[in-house]
Amino acid sequence: METKIFNKMDLIEAARLLREGEIVAFPTETVYGLGANAQIADAVQSVFTVKGRPSDNPLIVHVESFEQVKDYVEVFHPLTQEIVDAFWPGPLTLIFTIKPGALPSVVSAGLPTVSFRMPNHPLTLELIKEAGVPIVGPSANTSGRPSPTNSQHVYHDLQGKIAGILEGGATAIGVESTVLDLSDPTKPPMILRPGAVTKEALETILGIEILVDPHLAHEEQAPKSPGMKYKHYAPKTPALMVNPDEWEAVMALVIAKEIRLGLLGSPQMIERYQASAQATFAYEGEGVEAAAKGLFAGLRALDEAAIDVILVPTFPEEGLGVAYMNRLKKATNQLNFLEQLTSE
Ligand code: TXA
Ligand code: MG
Repeated sequence: METKIFNKMDLIEAARLLREGEIVAFPTETVYGLGANAQIADAVQSVFTVKGRPSDNPLIVHVESFEQVKDYVEVFHPLTQEIVDAFWPGPLTLIFTIKPGALPSVVSAGLPTVSFRMPNHPLTLELIKEAGVPIVGPSANTSGRPSPTNSQHVYHDLQGKIAGILEGGATAIGVESTVLDLSDPTKPPMILRPGAVTKEALETILGIEILVDPHLAHEEQAPKSPGMKYKHYAPKTPALMVNPDEWEAVMALVIAKEIRLGLLGSPQMIERYQASAQATFAYEGEGVEAAAKGLFAGLRALDEAAIDVILVPTFPEEGLGVAYMNRLKKATNQLNFLEQLTSE
């Protein structure tokens, strides 16, 4: 099939295709999503097929208002309204127990819970409203690839396999939403995936301690969110995360081994080190916000270059740095590559 690029002007057509069961990718403030009508089991199933997504990994249902969620959930956590008022629309996905039979079970991969998000993107909010149905939306990449932060990334992975892509420019945040479990009304909310809505931001609003899935700190424990167990975001070229303090030392090791070097970093870092590299990608700015926004685009771009390793800077694990480091750790192959570098 021909994959069409839809603009603002084509919103009604894109919404009609979605409503009728076709797959249309859409922009959000985090990453692009792979949209399908959440009420049509076959449409949802084809999202899994097109992405190559494991069937045990549930999807996020995108809505245009909190009201829309109430059609599918009977029992809400007591903190729900406060959380929604503070963070929706925004990069926060909420998990509730689903009203039995309210949505096809393929949406939640058979789990008794379903996750919902109201994205903060005017075009996509209009798209969902116009479609008149909730829209499932996993990140619009082929499973295992870095999430797409612009429409070209989606086109690269899925052209010919989906009906269209709604053009919305580069995404503002660049890492996927925070996933918060609210499915048990008697327990404090628990973060299953870190994102731009941080633990601290939630605690400031709610005035209570927010739990974090122990898996996020100790990789050996099984995650509560099925998707967190997969090796996501991986470029084909090995990537190595490097503390900026050790950057020069690691570069020296790599250069001594005649390994072809790719660098992903801030404009300042790239300018300083580019003479020693075969390929570079500079994101726009110096802080962790800029790094998060440019991470997936950088990994994708450098994956096309003839290099053997990509060096990526670490950031302190605080604020957005928690989400950035979570994604970076999944994208890198730290131990193997360091062993290779230091062995003869
Ligand atoms: O920012 C985002 O969240 C993007 C945009 C498009 O909205 N979407 C996204 O979807 O990242 P996806 O499918 O790539 O990641 C959804 C994550 C997975 O880790 C999945 O396992 C988890 O959310 N998840 C979804 N429903 C769940 C549920 N009922 N229980 C536990 N985890 C759930
Ligand atoms: Mg994903």
